[in-house]
Amino acid sequence: MSLATAENQSSLAGYYRWHAQIYDATRWAFLFGRNTLVRRAATQMAMPRRILEIGCGTGKNLVDLAERFPKAQIIGLDLSKDMLDVAKKKVRAYGSRVGLLQRPYDAPVAVGEKFDLIVMSYSLSMINPGFDEVIRLCRQDLSERGMVAVVDFHQSRWTWFRRWMGVNHVRMEGQILEKLRQHFEPLVCEVRHGYGDLWRYLVYVGK
Ligand SMILES: C[S@@+](CC[C@H](N)C(=O)[O-])C[C@H]1O[C@@H](n2cnc3c(N)ncnc32)[C@H](O)[C@@H]1O
Repeated sequence: MSLATAENQSSLAGYYRWHAQIYDATRWAFLFGRNTLVRRAATQMAMPRRILEIGCGTGKNLVDLAERFPKAQIIGLDLSKDMLDVAKKKVRAYGSRVGLLQRPYDAPVAVGEKFDLIVMSYSLSMINPGFDEVIRLCRQDLSERGMVAVVDFHQSRWTWFRRWMGVNHVRMEGQILEKLRQHFEPLVCEVRHGYGDLWRYLVYVGK
């Protein structure tokens, strides 16, 4: 692992030590597109058997996935113990069907059977450097018919806002969409506006 990557991971773990406590109470106001991501993925794949969420945070999408796909085995991976501590309480009701893994996504997760669906929701924009390596790694974790479902910040034309988001570990320079297109053929590809034109976010389902 490069020094820059290790630095990014340790600084994110530190950031979420405190933010994990206020995450669910605050993020609904700006992490748009999460409420419909699982439904959008379901229109492209009716019954994924194994699902991985990279950077699952406090587990909002894990619950949505478990409800939408009641027969699927689901793994939520995150480097932050504090975020996973919150997620653990939410997914308890689903028993062994939903598992949590504390580690950075720097090597494949699948041993044996691969995943049919990999979800990344507002995680790629925080993995800098290394978001492109994560997108590449997904290929190794995906089954032949596998798909990715992504929602994330895309870009903002306002320098002050990009700087402010940078303070919060988010890079929004249009870098993600380009890489997704290189590795996954788009089935759903949308760029939407957040608060007028303050920023844009992307919704992408690809195979
Ligand atoms: C903005 S939160 C998104 C959480 C959740 N997916 C959601 O939509 O609410 C980003 C999450 O990605 C995790 N993360 C960032 N870099 C990671 C990496 N390299 N490997 C695993 N998790 C990572 C962070 O710890 C954090 O919980």
